[in-house]
Amino acid sequence: MARQFFVGGNFKMNGNIKTIKDIVKNINAAKLDDSVEVVIAPPTLYLLLAREHLRPGLEVAAQNIFDKPNGAFTGEISVEQLKDSGITWTILGHSERRVILQEDDSFVASKTKAAIDGGISVILCCGESLEQREANKTIEVVTTQLKAVADKVKDWTKIVVAYEPIWAIGTGKVATTEQAQEVHAAIREWLKKEVSPEAAEATRILYGGSVTEKNSGELSKQPDIDGFLVGGASLKPAFVDIINCKGA
Ligand code: 13P
Repeated sequence: MARQFFVGGNFKMNGNIKTIKDIVKNINAAKLDDSVEVVIAPPTLYLLLAREHLRPGLEVAAQNIFDKPNGAFTGEISVEQLKDSGITWTILGHSERRVILQEDDSFVASKTKAAIDGGISVILCCGESLEQREANKTIEVVTTQLKAVADKVKDWTKIVVAYEPIWAIGTGKVATTEQAQEVHAAIREWLKKEVSPEAAEATRILYGGSVTEKNSGELSKQPDIDGFLVGGASLKPAFVDIINCKGA
């Protein structure tokens, strides 16, 4: 069974009411490849705005959630609150949260479990630093991050994995097609052994890190690259070209 190509836009802490409305308007007006699943992740404050304006059939993701249902957790948002607002996805485990906010593998796993148990789909990020790559630890780092989730979550049907090498994020230094394909294939092999052959076959593995309309076409031809998680370029009109890259 072919895996549906997936393109996510991670706006990170960028945008305001006007620019987010403009981005949504541009996506709504575009002719999009309708075989592609499209999800955009604006900052929390603009989730409802994006949901209200984005055309049906395209989904909105949070950039983070907390792993408790409600209560005294200042600054956090819950799975139930997302569902109540028509938000169906969340990004989890982004390297910016792992590194800057010091989220560890076990916390990311616990949040992934909360999302899946509550019925929210997850874009689960993993990826190595330059130092780890140079020490030949890429596969070990990535599979350790994923293993923490597999220990807590058995059903991977609502998880999309995003491989995002930290050295490629926001640097303009995209992984080569060979570098990306190699890690994606290793992740699929790991899924086969540690989750199930069915999960290995069905789970979308996205590449993220300096994806643009110029490099997306080549990357998308790799057998184990099932889409992208786009940062900077998702704020630009060319995001539409990345969504449509399979047909380009
Ligand atoms: P850039 O596309 O800006 O490199 O960011 C990638 C990313 O971190 C998406 O989550």
